[in-house]
Amino acid sequence: MEPFRYHVFVCTQEKPEGVPCCAASGSGAVLDALRRELGARGLSDEVQVSSSGCLGTCEHGPVMIAYPEGAWYSELKPADVAEIVASHFDRGQPVSRLARTDAPAMKTEILEHRDHYLAMLKAKDAAGVLPDDLNETIRGFMGSRAILTAIELDVFSAIGSGASAAETAAKIKAEARSTEMLLNALVALKLLRKSGETFQNTPVSQRFFTAGSPDNARPAQMHTVNLWKRWSTLTDAVGAGTRVAERGSSEEWTGSFIAAMDHNARGRAEAVVKAAAVNGPRRMLDLGGGSGAYSIAFAASAPELRGEILDLPDVLPITQEHLRRAGVAERITTRAGDMLQAELGKDYDLVLLSAICHMFSLEENRRLLRRIYQALAPNGRVVVQDFILEADKTSPKFAALFALNMLVGTKAGASYSEPEYTEWMREAGFRDIKRVRMPGPSGLMIGVK
Ligand SMILES: C[S@@+](CC[C@H](N)C(=O)[O-])C[C@H]1O[C@@H](n2cnc3c(N)ncnc32)[C@H](O)[C@@H]1O
Repeated sequence: MEPFRYHVFVCTQEKPEGVPCCAASGSGAVLDALRRELGARGLSDEVQVSSSGCLGTCEHGPVMIAYPEGAWYSELKPADVAEIVASHFDRGQPVSRLARTDAPAMKTEILEHRDHYLAMLKAKDAAGVLPDDLNETIRGFMGSRAILTAIELDVFSAIGSGASAAETAAKIKAEARSTEMLLNALVALKLLRKSGETFQNTPVSQRFFTAGSPDNARPAQMHTVNLWKRWSTLTDAVGAGTRVAERGSSEEWTGSFIAAMDHNARGRAEAVVKAAAVNGPRRMLDLGGGSGAYSIAFAASAPELRGEILDLPDVLPITQEHLRRAGVAERITTRAGDMLQAELGKDYDLVLLSAICHMFSLEENRRLLRRIYQALAPNGRVVVQDFILEADKTSPKFAALFALNMLVGTKAGASYSEPEYTEWMREAGFRDIKRVRMPGPSGLMIGVK
């Protein structure tokens, strides 16, 4: 059974450098062109496109197979795609000029390739060499650092609509020799393109890393630049059992931290409001509300909502600016204070703890949840959003790694598990405690008073 008129597989297999593969010969661009062309011809719902692993004819990549005919297109260029879509997928006539028909030779080639590849892996294993994927993970910091340096120096804005290494170096006030090395590496990382001596942004770097773009993530990613410095202290922090890095407290640190939180909330706030399933809350307390992104989303969903954000004094000017821009400064007020000490108030329908519990120790969270219970009205809810671990604390991967982020950044913070949140809530008196899983790295724990 085939639910679509055609099902197309485009190989996007990556192999170690120096080994021929479809990814290296440009299958990504072919796949993009295919999706674009099908969309332009109104065929996106007729032709299902899947990327696939190795198809075995790696010397002739990029390779694409189209079913039901089983037509093998080889050595494709993005420029070939329009003809295939028009002739094969629109009019039902495969493009013989681009399709291979030498089935017995192909079979031999695929089997030889498989044997050759397996022999290579076996030889590497016998030589006691680290597996490629592990090596790549260990060296992952190189690519990450190159991108962070480019963000820090605002390289993508300096490149603008195109610039040479020397022109870019002059703008970012760096040496031409080193700038050229950085730009070449960014081309290898697919964040720039190079034509002759001119470097250009890709659609991704243009959209996410250049000044003036509405989706510019540079201010938020400056927080990752700052995290790098803390992560460099991980070995010492593991030894000490706590943070050894200095606490970030400059205006720049706070600004990029809150920008990063706001950026994360962008794609999640609406979903969190839905998943929290609170019926039109009237009074809400947002502890450590940061930019106010979640309070703003709750306010948009419940016209009668009045809320308060309690946060540290140096953050509140940023919060107030966000609330003002969202037009909810009358309904959501702010208060400076330390949530571990300050009077929380009472009779709330909803208390939100978004990305808060990981900053604190077990005991601080236990006590905080007890105080939140007291602050809620009957039937009121506490909604915790965080990176929630499974019981054995080894997954999800991001939450397990984030625990280390808290080790290097806080006195006693960590990622906590579902059983831990459940226990704190139960002990505080909450009922109907549940975990809500959501797409992305964080989820919710909800309890009712
Ligand atoms: C990780 S951010 C989360 C921001 C926001 N809730 C969100 O999810 O986007 C933590 C927030 O808690 C605030 N914060 C940290 N310690 C605090 C404390 N002891 N009392 C009040 N706010 C605190 C920080 O200033 C920051 O705004």
